[in-house]
Amino acid sequence: STGMITIDPGYKNTGSCESAITYLDGEKGILRYRGYAIEDLAEKASFLEVAYLLIFGELPNKEQLDKFHADIKANSEVDEDLKKIVDSFPRSAHPMGILSSLTSALTAFNPSSVDINSEEDMYKAIVKIMGKFPVLAAWTLRKINAKPYDYGDSSLGYEENMLYMMFKKPNESYVPNQTVVDALDKLLILHADHEQNCSASTVRIVGSSHASLFVSLAAGVSALWGPLHGGANQAVIEMLEGIKADGGDTAKYMEKAKDKNDPFRLMGFGHRVYKNFDPRARIIKKAADDVLGDLGVEDPVLDIAKGLEKQALEDPYFVDRKLYPNVDFYSGIIYRALGIPTEMFTVMFALGRLPGWIAQWREMRLRKEPIGRPRQVYVGETHREFKPLEQR
Ligand code: SDX
Repeated sequence: STGMITIDPGYKNTGSCESAITYLDGEKGILRYRGYAIEDLAEKASFLEVAYLLIFGELPNKEQLDKFHADIKANSEVDEDLKKIVDSFPRSAHPMGILSSLTSALTAFNPSSVDINSEEDMYKAIVKIMGKFPVLAAWTLRKINAKPYDYGDSSLGYEENMLYMMFKKPNESYVPNQTVVDALDKLLILHADHEQNCSASTVRIVGSSHASLFVSLAAGVSALWGPLHGGANQAVIEMLEGIKADGGDTAKYMEKAKDKNDPFRLMGFGHRVYKNFDPRARIIKKAADDVLGDLGVEDPVLDIAKGLEKQALEDPYFVDRKLYPNVDFYSGIIYRALGIPTEMFTVMFALGRLPGWIAQWREMRLRKEPIGRPRQVYVGETHREFKPLEQR
């Protein structure tokens, strides 16, 4: 560092804000949303209760929850012209690229600039995005599956409606499977917030310029797409499939992960904060067994995943670096059992993280945080005299 500026790459030891939303203890593997343990919420709450809790700070009572859900349903229509944007994408487009574009495009159809000091204004913007985002996510899946995209059925619950919009076949009725609905509800809760992770920090810094909520969320979708962050859940399944195709030789991939000259990393392992187990991974691993059992799904990559975890927990390289499975390690195995294609896994992560991003953005604005503008240590050229073109 020079003078008063100290560089902290990746902000490993820098706090960006005070927050009252989510508490993590990396050593003890503790995760709490507004003080409530993730284990309790995953088991006993619904995703909309948890979304309300994260955003407004309290678990809703029945009247508040029913109103929240009704207002979300009433705001889940998406402007028909947005379909023109979906039409314009090739079927090979990655769903996260489509979702980020559509989320940004919402600003063209909905004045999302909110008066942060008007509770009513803020509430309206929140129920709008909570209603429309699942439609946009479903439309990305319909596009890559070459299926027509339309609206949901507002008589259904929040997750049922997501599944309905994603999987209803044009000429058949669709009855959601309760096991699938419950598994999706739990996964959305487990992904709902995680304090100042890369995408939440992105949503905060974009919002700190007083850019609107929807474009701040679109930036969060982009940050989440990266394979080191939310994109890891897709990379995990691709890695496990690769190991299966290679004869299931997990030891060979453990060696590759330890080889500094080999860019291969054990995707779904390691975490900036959790230096013990990730409590979400623990819940998802158990849920994977339950859901696949209930659905009668045999997935060989689950055994490969368990084998990798077992070997890593006994391997000094991983133990010394405190590398344990994170939230992304087992989640894809459940998504796949629910019929969700691999390239949609990170979209499912975004659907869960939406209320967390909203809560972080709202807290940042309510606390009147200053615009995010870090300094640097300059290491470039010292002053040079200009040289005319003919002399270069
Ligand atoms: C999420 O921040 C959040 O909370 C994110 C998230 C959320 O809910 O928002 O929890 C969701 O993004 C989970 C993480 C998903 N990403 C992956 O699974 C990708 C694989 N993991 C790594 O890329 C890595 O562990 C990170 C990105 C998760 C964390 O990176 P850090 O904190 O910058 O750690 P690092 O890269 O400096 O690694 C420390 C050491 C290094 O070895 P040395 O140089 O010290 O010898 O551990 C090694 C790394 O090489 N290492 C790994 C590894 N992860 C770290 N080696 C092999 N495989 C891995 N997965």
